[in-house]
Amino acid sequence: MSTGKMIPQHIAIIMDGNGRWARMRGKERSEGHIAGMNALRETVRNVAHAGVKYLTVYAFSTENWGRPQAEVDALMELICKGVEMESEELVRVGIKVQTIGDRSRFSDKVKASLETIEQMTAAGENMTFVLALNYSSRSEIATAVQKLAQRVAQGELKPEEIDEQMISSSLYTSFAPDPDLIIRTSGECRLSNFLMWQASYSEFYFTPTLWPDFDKAELDKALEAYAARDRRYGLVK
Ligand code: IPE
Ligand code: IPE
Ligand code: MG
Repeated sequence: MSTGKMIPQHIAIIMDGNGRWARMRGKERSEGHIAGMNALRETVRNVAHAGVKYLTVYAFSTENWGRPQAEVDALMELICKGVEMESEELVRVGIKVQTIGDRSRFSDKVKASLETIEQMTAAGENMTFVLALNYSSRSEIATAVQKLAQRVAQGELKPEEIDEQMISSSLYTSFAPDPDLIIRTSGECRLSNFLMWQASYSEFYFTPTLWPDFDKAELDKALEAYAARDRRYGLVK
């Protein structure tokens, strides 16, 4: 951990470019996802080591179901494998795993894997590692609005009592502070339906590096860039 430098409390990453990484090497897209998983393993370790308290990664969007079935299957398989291979190490280093997104669409096997890793790592206090799975920011907001509307309909809540804090705490991410830094790899400069409410005052960092190539040096560059930002929140300094 460096001294006196502004360190984000929460980093969120849109891990993009696995497919292009594979194509450049004449490999299957699924091999790109395996390489991406290795980059993720290292990044979790490096981010925790930097003193960051929350790391959220976009691992599967609601839109990603529309990819070829073989790729979707490979990704599901990788989720289960990753859980199997990493849970003990995550427990050892005190990292707690949580998920955001709609889990109902996953197979029983994937659901069971996710429940296992959440239970095993629940006592972790060094960092919370959040996997966004079958996640969509718009559907997250729509679901939150439904929940609040139901409470209004039941007479438990007055419409004028609904404030920003109440919306924040009705989202999947209620347990975490808003991301300070959002990183997207592979050169794309868009959110792709990720954390739109939560990103209101996030700092963005875009890099052309493809996700499987995102290593400690790349993370350090992102942290340096963040440390040099001037977060004004609409105020005058
Ligand atoms: C990101 O890499 C991983 C997931 C979306 C699951 P991509 O698979 O989107 O890689 P590109 O964008 O096609 O290169
Ligand atoms: C966003 O990447 C979703 C994840 C990283 C899981 P995509 O590759 O799916 O997004 P688009 O299609 O480039 O917007
Ligand atoms: Mg992509």
